[in-house]
Amino acid sequence: MSSDYKVSLPNEASMTAFGHAIAHASGGSGVIFLLGDLGMGKTTLSRGVLQGMGHKGSVKSPTYTLVEPYDVGEQRIYHFDLYRLSDPEELEYLGIRDYFDEAALCLVEWPNRGEGMLPVADMLLNIELDGYGRTVQWTPQTEKGQKMADRLVKAI
Ligand SMILES: Nc1ncnc2c1ncn2[C@@H]1O[C@H](COP(=O)(O)OP(=O)(O)O)[C@@H](O)[C@H]1O
Ligand SMILES: [Mg+2]
Repeated sequence: MSSDYKVSLPNEASMTAFGHAIAHASGGSGVIFLLGDLGMGKTTLSRGVLQGMGHKGSVKSPTYTLVEPYDVGEQRIYHFDLYRLSDPEELEYLGIRDYFDEAALCLVEWPNRGEGMLPVADMLLNIELDGYGRTVQWTPQTEKGQKMADRLVKAI
């Protein structure tokens, strides 16, 4: 599978707009991991995805709650931030298995903190610093992710 998908996003607004494109490319379900250091824009991108899915309210970082659920019409979206997880086993108490439902869209910041307890992501989004802006690289890991990646290429 190709991992040669990359876009340059010079500011917050373009990051959010790219999130909208991801929402449309996702088809409304799947598992997306967001990789990148603190302050790279993972929550900003997640906010864009949620808005692109039709969410109208605010999107707060789930740093302390670990997961924030959203219902948009019939659609269920879960936004995780596992930064504060000290042990992947803690996800067991959170009822992690129920979240990764086939029909849900799951956005996961700091997935490495939950290693061993999370399913394979359909797509990885890797955010890096690029001057004052960011580059986002996307890597499909499943057949579903490949479809998302191809739709995303056409959208940008
Ligand atoms: N493409 C971008 N270019 C420049 N700044 C950005 C971009 N995307 C997000 N930011 C800024 O980066 C900061 C941190 O974003 P945040 O989404 O909280 O990061 P993270 O969740 O990765 O810690 C915010 O001030 C946001 O406005
Ligand atoms: Mg964040």
